[in-house]
Amino acid sequence: MQLRLAAAAAAVVLSLSLLLTNTQAHNITHILEKYPELSTFNHYLTVTQLAPEINRRETITVCAVDNAGMSDLLSKKLSIGGIKNVLSLHVLLDYFDAKKLHQITDGTALAATMFQSTGSAPGSAGFVNITDLKGGKVGFAPQDNGGVMSATFVKSVEAVPYNISVIQISSILPSPEAEAPAPGPSQMNITALMSAHGCKVFAETLLANPAEQTFEENVESGLTIFCPGDDAMKSFMPKYKNLTASGKQSLLEYHGMPIYQSLAGLKSSNGLTNSLATDGSSKYDFTVQNDGTDVTIMTKVVTAKIINTVIDEQPLAIYELDKVLMPKELFKAALPPAPAPAPAADAESPKPSKKKHRSPPAPAAPSDSPADAPEGDVADQTADSNGAVRFDGGRFGALILSLWFAFLQL
Ligand SMILES: *[C@@H]1O[C@H](CO)[C@@H](O)[C@H](O)[C@H]1NC(C)=O
Ligand SMILES: *[C@@H]1O[C@H](CO)[C@@H](O)[C@H](O)[C@H]1NC(C)=O
Ligand SMILES: *[C@@H]1O[C@H](CO)[C@@H](O)[C@H](O)[C@H]1NC(C)=O
Ligand SMILES: *[C@@H]1O[C@H](CO)[C@@H](O)[C@H](O)[C@H]1NC(C)=O
Ligand SMILES: *[C@@H]1O[C@H](CO)[C@@H](O)[C@H](O)[C@H]1NC(C)=O
Repeated sequence: MQLRLAAAAAAVVLSLSLLLTNTQAHNITHILEKYPELSTFNHYLTVTQLAPEINRRETITVCAVDNAGMSDLLSKKLSIGGIKNVLSLHVLLDYFDAKKLHQITDGTALAATMFQSTGSAPGSAGFVNITDLKGGKVGFAPQDNGGVMSATFVKSVEAVPYNISVIQISSILPSPEAEAPAPGPSQMNITALMSAHGCKVFAETLLANPAEQTFEENVESGLTIFCPGDDAMKSFMPKYKNLTASGKQSLLEYHGMPIYQSLAGLKSSNGLTNSLATDGSSKYDFTVQNDGTDVTIMTKVVTAKIINTVIDEQPLAIYELDKVLMPKELFKAALPPAPAPAPAADAESPKPSKKKHRSPPAPAAPSDSPADAPEGDVADQTADSNGAVRFDGGRFGALILSLWFAFLQL
């Protein structure tokens, strides 16, 4: 048993390493679309955001259940987090097609699941026991299910050796552990987390500003926060107090990125990125850049370094920085302030922050301007102030950026 667990754990590690592959070989949503009886299962793979997670992996088996099986699960009225955990228990991190299922060595095997790989499965709750039963049937059960095989193999749906096998099983695997998930990051108090881990001044500043709401609203759909450490934030406070109300909000929102990025993800995705303050012509972008083993965040004004990970748990990551990020929109030679962007539907933006404030950037304080602001910046800003057409361009830029990030996250 111990050995099998170890082997299964090794399978988790192997599958995790396969995550780094860039090509997307399959599309689970597309595969399941052809089977109306599996449509509810398919729908919830999308709702819980498990579908992209499945598409990203190789050598996996998806154990789908029909619509009746799904309505049993849905009648339990679990949170989306609970449903996600239960469904992730139905994604085995190994390839089992019909043939392999009927030829299991010694007639029984344990498979690690995606629930196991989330790290939120206590003990052995993330493993599924597959056992050949009498009469050619194959049984499935969560490990430690008291010897009861709760579901059986129904049919093979699709098999692409050895990338993905989709099979149908007779019912949802019961798992009290998966159904009662630990509180998700959306229920976490981000300011309390930051306060407890060296970013108390930033957290308190955030709590006193509408930007806090912007951060909260983005947690569920993926959020990365760069919080300046207390020393950095304290020495920055005089400059902060000098900003207009809108400038303060932009400055704070500039420390958030509307996608989740693990440290490994940041290390492998150098380049320009949006922040929560990005809104049309107000670019508020910065560059993520590796510097040896460090990850740095470069604005046109400062280069800050990640010095600590406060939390890294999809969909939320918080990293501590050694400096406050100063955007060129607020800290550079005085330029004519850009006019407020034309109203546009937020829904059109591919991965917008949930809430934007639309005030123009505050005029820059001359004393904070870098002496050598590059020419290109000035050109950028002048171009941006040309109105609606340029604004669309900004949206398009955001789309490109988001696509670029989506690609890097594969
Ligand atoms: C399996 O995945 C690999 C890597 O993504 C891909 O190159 C290969 O074409 C896939 N095989 C099939 C049969 O789709
Ligand atoms: C997967 O397939 C679905 C349905 O066919 C489609 O809407 C979706 O865009 C596809 N996803 C990717 C990443 O290609
Ligand atoms: C799977 O469960 C059955 C029944 O409880 C048990 O006999 C078997 O040893 C288990 N298999 C593994 C690999 O743990
Ligand atoms: C989070 O904790 C802070 C104290 O650090 C408190 O003021 C705030 O109200 C809490 N927020 C939520 C949403 O519970
Ligand atoms: C605040 O703004 C004023 C006027 O722009 C400037 O003279 C002063 O140096 C600024 N103070 C700080 C701390 O940036």
